[in-house]
Amino acid sequence: MKTKFSMIAAVDANLGIGREGKLPWSIAPDMRHFKELTLAAPPGKKNVVVMGRKTWESLPEKFRPLPGRWNAVISSQRDFGLPQEVLLSPDFRSVFSSLEKLWGDTVGEIFIIGGAAVFKEGLNDAGCERLYLTRILKDFCCDVFFPAFEPGFALTQESPPGTFCGIEYYFAEYRRRLRK
Ligand SMILES: NC(=O)c1ccc[n+]([C@@H]2O[C@H](COP(=O)([O-])OP(=O)(O)OC[C@H]3O[C@@H](n4cnc5c(N)ncnc54)[C@H](OP(=O)(O)O)[C@@H]3O)[C@@H](O)[C@H]2O)c1
Repeated sequence: MKTKFSMIAAVDANLGIGREGKLPWSIAPDMRHFKELTLAAPPGKKNVVVMGRKTWESLPEKFRPLPGRWNAVISSQRDFGLPQEVLLSPDFRSVFSSLEKLWGDTVGEIFIIGGAAVFKEGLNDAGCERLYLTRILKDFCCDVFFPAFEPGFALTQESPPGTFCGIEYYFAEYRRRLRK
């Protein structure tokens, strides 16, 4: 069973990730970055994006399921109109056992894409090896937040800063520190 995964998020200056059920920013280079990373799978495989029910509902209908990736949604509810090809999982850990039963060898990398509760469970799980964070250098008065992740994770890569519509951001990558 595959148990290793990465998490990917865009966070504001206070680790905010969303407000009123939506993303409070629209940063095209961040969308591109998300797409490139989550779509890049070896030939014959598709990566998996795992999300909470509210994140699923926050995606515009025309973009869900996210194309070119296996989609998995965590919810305690049994029926809220998920398309058949989307894996519905009752809790975080069951995703990993179910996705291989369903999609077998076609499973590439696994990305946890939010929201807050799912990120928190992911961070506390030893299988979480890598964080891809878009750091946005502005406070957007968010009402949901990415959990504190330092000192458990170390910065391994940082892009040069960029600006989009006056908003400064950069892409950062962190890896879990090995326990001594
Ligand atoms: N900036 C970013 O990168 C980013 C990424 C993703 C989302 N967001 C934003 O974050 C917000 C949505 O996130 P959120 O934190 O409010 O919600 P969420 O984590 O997407 O969804 C929460 C729901 O997921 C289900 N769930 C989560 N953990 C579960 C568990 N262990 N067992 C069973 N069910 C579980 C529950 O669904 P049920 O209530 O159906 O049981 C829960 O109510 C939006 O504003 C969105 O735009 C931002």
